[in-house]
Amino acid sequence: LDNGLARTPPMGWMSWERFRCETNCTRHPDACISERLIKETADVIASDGFRDAGYQYVIVDDCWLATTRDQSGHLQPDPARFPSGIRSLASYVQSRGLKFGIYGDIGTNTCAGYPGMQDNFQRDAQTYADWGVDYLKVDGCFADPTQYNVTYPGLGLALNKTGRAMVYSCSWPAYLPDPVQTSYQTPYKELQQHCNLWRNWVDIQSSWQSLSTIVQFWALASQRSKGFTEVAGPGSWNDPDMLIIGNEGITDAQAGLQMGAWAIFAAPLIMGNDVRNLTASQRSILLNKDVIAISQDPLGMQGSLVRCPGGCNSSQIWRRQLSTGIAVAFINLGSSAVGQVCVSPADLRPLDASALMVHNVFTGELTTHQQRDLCTQNIQPTSIILLRISEGTPVQGSIAPLTQAF
Ligand code: GLA
Repeated sequence: LDNGLARTPPMGWMSWERFRCETNCTRHPDACISERLIKETADVIASDGFRDAGYQYVIVDDCWLATTRDQSGHLQPDPARFPSGIRSLASYVQSRGLKFGIYGDIGTNTCAGYPGMQDNFQRDAQTYADWGVDYLKVDGCFADPTQYNVTYPGLGLALNKTGRAMVYSCSWPAYLPDPVQTSYQTPYKELQQHCNLWRNWVDIQSSWQSLSTIVQFWALASQRSKGFTEVAGPGSWNDPDMLIIGNEGITDAQAGLQMGAWAIFAAPLIMGNDVRNLTASQRSILLNKDVIAISQDPLGMQGSLVRCPGGCNSSQIWRRQLSTGIAVAFINLGSSAVGQVCVSPADLRPLDASALMVHNVFTGELTTHQQRDLCTQNIQPTSIILLRISEGTPVQGSIAPLTQAF
């Protein structure tokens, strides 16, 4: 969507993955969907390095609404959990140098059963604009997916009419047939035209099983779904769902794999964790500035699959063209180490392979490389090796020559 927003994949935090639809603030005061949770999260994002690393949007997902509209038909928040109202919450978040996002549904009800926006597009768009919303996630429950090509653009128009710039996140293709398992052709042109980002597939869960299935889906979609890779660019992004880094259910290596893969995919980096409770290693994965630089590269090209040596459910090689150089990822989804995987000079085009600098963005190691295949050895189970490669010769002595392994 060409509305001047999301020129690089949006970064931020969203409540769903970790806090779900917890509405009992008596029993779970720290974890219920409430203004307190959003404010505390915004405080940590602003003060603990996340905002400065690029995480910008703080987004309330489902279950913020009261069960009914107000007497004049407007959406309203649950009065006990959001006593100060959404406008005040939005300005709190914005006063921390962040942006505020919220969730709605294109149909009669949200997925958790709260009031949806059907038949109220203009009124609700205006409510969001009046509240100072910067980002709107629009889900597709309790609606007719065959009408999405009318309803999603219709709501987009209503948002546009308010005159307030809001990132428009659509769940549209997540409810359409799977383009990998069926011959269905996802309407990427329409998505690109009408939405800033769109959820392509199933909801992520905080488990390795779920994460690895999504990474496999991405590889197969790259191979089989026409237009999937090309459609992404400034203002329009495929969305494989939230980062689960910081939650139980995955190891640090798997967390690094998600961060690196999402960067290569040009995917939104929306954390679905509790930022108040992270380990040092989880923080450093989320704040790795070299990985974030790949994600946020201004060219905005989505990475493409080079090949799956031995099946996309075990190892995958990806490349992403950057404004300077390229990024290459070796991903091992399998449960045993992968001995050696290589890319050829042809895979590295348009780079001229006669003198290359190779930066391993997770280990920090810098090496030089020339001509022959670029190989990596011994990729540990469920892990990634992410390289940023550029042309040139480093200043003498500043870089180690390439040894066999990275
Ligand atoms: C759907 C969405 C999730 C989340 C929930 C909320 O499942 O895909 O991301 O928003 O609804 O109910």
